[in-house]
Amino acid sequence: MGKLPACAFRQERKNEQTIPNMATKKEPTTGLRKLMEDQLADIYFAEKQLVKALPKMAKNAGNADLRAAFEGHLQETHGQIERLEQVFGSMGLPAKGKTCPAILGLLQECTELMDEFGDDEALDAALVAGARKVEHYEIATYGSLSAWAEQLGLDDAAGLLQETLEEEQGADEKLTGIGEEVMGAAVVTDDEEEEELAEVEEDSLAVGKSKPPSNGSRIGAKSTANGNAKKKAVGKR
Ligand SMILES: [Fe+2]
Ligand SMILES: [Fe+2]
Repeated sequence: MGKLPACAFRQERKNEQTIPNMATKKEPTTGLRKLMEDQLADIYFAEKQLVKALPKMAKNAGNADLRAAFEGHLQETHGQIERLEQVFGSMGLPAKGKTCPAILGLLQECTELMDEFGDDEALDAALVAGARKVEHYEIATYGSLSAWAEQLGLDDAAGLLQETLEEEQGADEKLTGIGEEVMGAAVVTDDEEEEELAEVEEDSLAVGKSKPPSNGSRIGAKSTANGNAKKKAVGKR
């Protein structure tokens, strides 16, 4: 058989590319729609990880407002997962997550902070910082998702995603306020540290037992400036 003209070859290639698409997909999947499906799966996975992480963060918080904020946001997160399932449903898709390395890294950082500052006055400030990084990640994701949903004319999905976006922004604002409260408690001057050590010594002498802590940084286990009892050995819990 003779050589096919170049135009015939191009036609053959074109058919090869278009036939599988027509056979397997009912509606065209645009780049943006595909991207939206990908990022929905990413945030669905992330929210499920947060449901596991938030109780641990609440347990480690010394400040009562911070603990309540984590507990409240855990409830919101359950609602956000339901909303995402509604978004998947509205797009005719099953709810399915895909591993999100970013949230795993952010949560790993929170765990490391809890271990490193478990006995320190700055633990609550560290928890606020770690949690705010997570909120900013979520805000960026939901911001993009709701804009894409609007662009694609997916009005129900856009509304649901916007609702969650506002919730995440509210959580970040709340954490920012608590952060201002707890950072004051995390400032310990050398004088204060000595005073607290002296108090601990006095208390020990009064009850006639136990030595004062040998490590000055551990006095945070006693009490904080905002009156909340601090917890110890976070990493072991
Ligand atoms: Fe969330
Ligand atoms: Fe959040």
